[in-house]
Amino acid sequence: MNHVLTAKQYTKETLEELFTLTDDIKNNPQKYAKTLDGKIVAVMFYEPSTRTRLSFETAALRLGGQVISTENASANSSGKKGETLEDTVKVLQGYADAIVIRHSSDTWPQDAIKVAQVPILNAGAGKGEHPTQALLDVYTIREHRKTLDGVKVAILGDLLNGRTIHSLLRLVSLYNNVEVYGLSKECFALPQEYIDMLNAREIEYKKCNNFDDIPKDVDILYHTRIQSERFEGDFGKEEYIINKEVLNKFSENTIVLHPLPRNEEIATDIDDDPRAMYFKQAHNGLYVRMALFVQALSK
Ligand code: NCD
Repeated sequence: MNHVLTAKQYTKETLEELFTLTDDIKNNPQKYAKTLDGKIVAVMFYEPSTRTRLSFETAALRLGGQVISTENASANSSGKKGETLEDTVKVLQGYADAIVIRHSSDTWPQDAIKVAQVPILNAGAGKGEHPTQALLDVYTIREHRKTLDGVKVAILGDLLNGRTIHSLLRLVSLYNNVEVYGLSKECFALPQEYIDMLNAREIEYKKCNNFDDIPKDVDILYHTRIQSERFEGDFGKEEYIINKEVLNKFSENTIVLHPLPRNEEIATDIDDDPRAMYFKQAHNGLYVRMALFVQALSK
């Protein structure tokens, strides 16, 4: 069954297969307009979302499918009455042909999979993983640069709690001659588990102390929001802000990505710079999620 549970499930080959399909959907949407004819997708979000939920729903609708959705499931579903996610999945698969879930537990996909009889798509698991975001991130990088072999990526922001960072590193590490730089406040440093994962793939993680430690010709500046909903206490604001002055220290080919929503970490004064690609990135999420539904449901 074509579940999307973790970035770990992908190889360079399966990524290329997904992205080739995504390119085709993006270029010929009409060809796929009835692919999900007669299919129903259930969408359960136990945490806030704008892009992920609405692009998943749009993806199903653009493919000719139908959607049933609970957008505030922690308050409005039986989760509030103590129902386990496994029980919810057992029930929903009697109604729908695929289930998209976002939940605050880091490990919910492992539990859901035990009972799943329809494809499950992970739309965010606590501070663990967000594989479909990483897929659209890598798709956007590939679109810009053709390949990720030899890519130099700088990750910034909340590297501790940012699930998009965790999934992105797993995918980026599949490519050859990759360089990864990290710049964050010490309290949001990348967990050792991910440094070890990179090292196991012969990628050295280069921790930076300021923007000047990141090479000028870095391909990607990937910033993230401080995930304040994931911890108690106040660790202050982001120190490393990408604004016009900072971006102009980097090459013409350096692009800025962000999963969004942003807070102060990316100044709006770079929004019109062609290197600011975060809105294009969010738009690509629609096509990548269409491709994931095609893979999950059209066979
Ligand atoms: C991210 C998430 O939910 O992890 N948002 C998204 O899906 N694009 C990042 C975030 O909330 O900061």
